[in-house]
Amino acid sequence: MKPITIDTITQAVIDHGDGGKTHPRLYEIYTSLVSHLHAFVREVKLTESELQQGRDFLNQVSHHIEEIPTGEMHMLTDLLGISELVELLHDDQRGTEGNLEGPLYVLNASERQIGDRLGVDPEGDTLFLSGRVLELNGEPIAHALIDVWQPNSKGLYDIQDPSQPPGNFRGRFTTDASGKYAFETVVPMGYNVPASGPSGELLRLLGRHTWRAAHIHFKLSALEYTSLTTQIYIAGDPHLDSDTTFAVRSAIVELQKHEAPEKLQARNQSKPFYTTEFDFVLKSATLAETHKVTADYVYAGDSK
Ligand SMILES: [Fe+2]
Repeated sequence: MKPITIDTITQAVIDHGDGGKTHPRLYEIYTSLVSHLHAFVREVKLTESELQQGRDFLNQVSHHIEEIPTGEMHMLTDLLGISELVELLHDDQRGTEGNLEGPLYVLNASERQIGDRLGVDPEGDTLFLSGRVLELNGEPIAHALIDVWQPNSKGLYDIQDPSQPPGNFRGRFTTDASGKYAFETVVPMGYNVPASGPSGELLRLLGRHTWRAAHIHFKLSALEYTSLTTQIYIAGDPHLDSDTTFAVRSAIVELQKHEAPEKLQARNQSKPFYTTEFDFVLKSATLAETHKVTADYVYAGDSK
């Protein structure tokens, strides 16, 4: 038996198993993670009480559900820049850039028609957002699904705010034959990430602010195209350069304000409103990512 020492313990942990025979990718990640964690412990000369503080912190991150029903683990990876780093790592610079999903996405939002209003917010400034979903070559993608969610004009999502009806400012749209989408919403406000739990306490101790720049979330999918999760940001927001999730890149839209009486009348608005446009560009999926493989197979089988 080899004695465990400060010099042998890292390799002993890595070797304690089948060497990745059953799950090679898991072993690759695990081996690197153990190596980096041990190096970190050595570098900062972690004390027993600091280790216990770390255990307590991670336990609380998982269990603090007052503001995010699933706990704060997802948010913590956003705040540490890990989520955005993963996005950057896999961005091949083609098509619309991907961006963080965040912890406040809800499945099965209401299906809505092109032009529909996304939510109720009498105090908000109305925004008409439209654009197209396109291929890399500029051709439109018809019947693409667009899942949208955003905070209201006070920076609150429906699931954080009992005063909003369930599903407020969430919806699923389908593009028309020209790849067009359009909906009416309000200008979202930037917001502070939920800060009542351990993640917020960490930011406070580090002197970090908790602001996210104003944004709207999107998930897009279409048959034979790679699905896209992204966010668009509102130009002029004071936190574009210091978003606490490090997620602001190039998808920033300028809003045009309209207040002329004829414009208000044309849009049936009683106060000034805003418009903006944003086109999404999707990449073709590899065959393995789509149903095309199956479809081709079925087609070939039918022709025999
Ligand atoms: Fe958000």
